[in-house]
Amino acid sequence: MAATPAGPEREATADRLLASSLRTSYDPTVEIDWAAPHVPGAYWLPPHRSSLYGTRLWDGMTEEQRVTLTRHEVASAASAGVWFETILMQMLIRHYYDADPTSRHAQYALTEVADECRHSVMFGRLIEAMGCPVYRAGRWDQALGRFLKTTATGPQMYAAILIAEEVLDAFQREIMADESLQPLIRMVSRIHVVEEARHVRFAREEVARQVAAAGPVAMAYARLLIGRAAYSISNRLVHPAAYAAVGIPPGVGRAAARANPHWRATLRWSAARVYDHLASLDLVAGPGRALWRRAGLI
Ligand SMILES: [Fe+2]
Ligand SMILES: [Fe+2]
Repeated sequence: MAATPAGPEREATADRLLASSLRTSYDPTVEIDWAAPHVPGAYWLPPHRSSLYGTRLWDGMTEEQRVTLTRHEVASAASAGVWFETILMQMLIRHYYDADPTSRHAQYALTEVADECRHSVMFGRLIEAMGCPVYRAGRWDQALGRFLKTTATGPQMYAAILIAEEVLDAFQREIMADESLQPLIRMVSRIHVVEEARHVRFAREEVARQVAAAGPVAMAYARLLIGRAAYSISNRLVHPAAYAAVGIPPGVGRAAARANPHWRATLRWSAARVYDHLASLDLVAGPGRALWRRAGLI
């Protein structure tokens, strides 16, 4: 925020987002019936979005095991969601520290932190209601997250936020529209999609401003960090331990998912929108681009 002073257009966007936050914000502890029984036999994710869909492992599973796998895949994504949101809240608060508290822009940043606080509570409740473990980030991802949340400024900060938000959003938009899925995950997705639409608008405009303010060295550094963030996010979506819930050794499940053309297509589909946007701002190039490819996102 310090690098790009509040202009009238930036303030106008924040003003609109604040008005929208007032109209449509949800308290998941009140809005969701957490004790409602689950629908027997209903999937938690459209089956074609499961990381093993179409593989020999998938063919060898019973219908019940397939449903269980999607439940654990959702728990893994929700665990990743909490992780991303904790990083993002700290990045926003760090920026707020230098900002003008009377600006609408700074006030919207705080409002977004408030949204993310409720989201992380919601994802925690979701994991608990599904009866799944919390699938935590590995040691390297945990360290990268700690580094990002402590140091990130400039284009890479908002770009990393956008990748995490838009990739999850692609899955959630599909889930909320699919009436065959568990009502609980549809409701969680609907609340998240509505509030994230504002965050995506905020981050998209901000990353474009940060790019306009960045020099060539800052841009090169940003491309590399953005590629590494994209790699972590894609890698973190399905935790290998989730496969153990259906009796598949984690390493075997992960290797099958990586080789699965359906899953690779799903990853590219989930990242298509954010990739186009960041590429149009020249934020995907060089060694950073190779990381996007290794992540299976392009
Ligand atoms: Fe969120
Ligand atoms: Fe968000």
